[in-house]
Amino acid sequence: MRVTMIGTGYVGLVSGACFADFGHVVTCVDKDASKIEKLKAGEIPIYEPGLEDLVETNVKQERLFFTTDPEEAIKSADAVFIAVGTPSRRGDGHADLSYVYGAAEEIADLMEGYTVVVTKSTVPVGTGDEVEAIIAKKRARDDFAVVSNPEFLREGAAIKDFKIPDRVVVGTEDQRAMEVMRELYRPLFLNETPILFTNRRTSELIKYAANAFLAVKITFINEIADLCEKVGANVQEVSRGIGLDNRIGKKFLNAGPGYGGSCFPKDTLALTKTANDHDSPIRIVDTVVEVNAARKKAMADKIIAAMGGDVSGKQIAVLGLAFKQNTDDMRDAPSLDILPALQKAGATIRAYDPASMEEAAKHLSDIQFCDGPYHAIEGADAMVIITEWDQFRALDMKRVQDLLKTNTVIDLRNIYSKPDMEKRGFNYVSIGRP
Ligand code: UDX
Repeated sequence: MRVTMIGTGYVGLVSGACFADFGHVVTCVDKDASKIEKLKAGEIPIYEPGLEDLVETNVKQERLFFTTDPEEAIKSADAVFIAVGTPSRRGDGHADLSYVYGAAEEIADLMEGYTVVVTKSTVPVGTGDEVEAIIAKKRARDDFAVVSNPEFLREGAAIKDFKIPDRVVVGTEDQRAMEVMRELYRPLFLNETPILFTNRRTSELIKYAANAFLAVKITFINEIADLCEKVGANVQEVSRGIGLDNRIGKKFLNAGPGYGGSCFPKDTLALTKTANDHDSPIRIVDTVVEVNAARKKAMADKIIAAMGGDVSGKQIAVLGLAFKQNTDDMRDAPSLDILPALQKAGATIRAYDPASMEEAAKHLSDIQFCDGPYHAIEGADAMVIITEWDQFRALDMKRVQDLLKTNTVIDLRNIYSKPDMEKRGFNYVSIGRP
């Protein structure tokens, strides 16, 4: 089929490249000419493992194209995906839908023949109705259908999540559109991936409910970790003990410094706004937003306490800045709360992150960025692990001991074993493992 993807951000680019890899002919459209030029030259503007090769292969096989001109792309498409940004609107947390509505106007002007318009961006419940109304002003209702098809891609694992999803959710009650969506996802259909067809509003809510639930699950285990520290329990074993119950499940039970990223913070806020606007508040998610924000700030206090209560004049080595491993994304990263708080308490920071230092430098000041973990650790009074990059999981601890001025290691991702670290003589502080 001929697919057009409007928006070449993280969702649009990954989805477009994967649809091309399924055998469809995909044109990715973006207003940002420099981004399109880079993509045409094979430069990928985001850090996503495997994406560069996937794009290169599909461009070479003439299944994937990039353009700033929407006309040809929309005219010839069987399905046009809206994959533009829906950032939190300043001040009130509502999703800013101006890019979505702008894309809908463009589609209404340019489409030819029956076209399925698919909202792939995360949009509040009811947005599909708005998109439909915008297009219906210029087009007969039989000429198009507006479908919700939310993505569940994790940064750093996006290609795998697209190609081997737990499920595909499609929100439409239009039979013809259902056929188009089945054809689009046929390769997944063939390997029995569950494809859930539901109505549009339900599909839109499924996306928010999924992200909010995951945020609740993470925040729950983070609070259990705090209790573990008080009662002498081990949160990793609590996670294992509850996760073996298949009603709970093992994933997303790793206690840490709090969640970040471009989705959980934005989507939890948008969901609670929608809920409050409809006089049906979701108090548990309101609380999760609050608890998570406080946790990131509390992590600095934990580090200061581990270093004896006063870090003025101290040098701290920070390993990891991105909101999680395998991404350069700094959006709502815990490091953005932790590092300024440590600096405010008088510490100087040396930091290393394999992918996000360039991005981090735009949000942090007076940080000495280093070219490797050992360079950061050299002469520091303590080592703090904030992001669970694989390359931090097997550090030469003898070398760490030689480089550190003291023996304090604070591990906010529970990468290391407490007994091992203590046997080596470290003052080792972690999460929920007193
Ligand atoms: C998330 C959803 O997983 C994905 O389905 C959706 O499409 C987009 O939002 P992402 O934000 O890329 O994906 O990252 P994810 O791997 O879900 O982690 C989110 C946050 O939770 C990160 O800050 C991560 O460090 C944290 N996390 C995750 C934990 O603290 N503990 C865990 O066990 C898992």
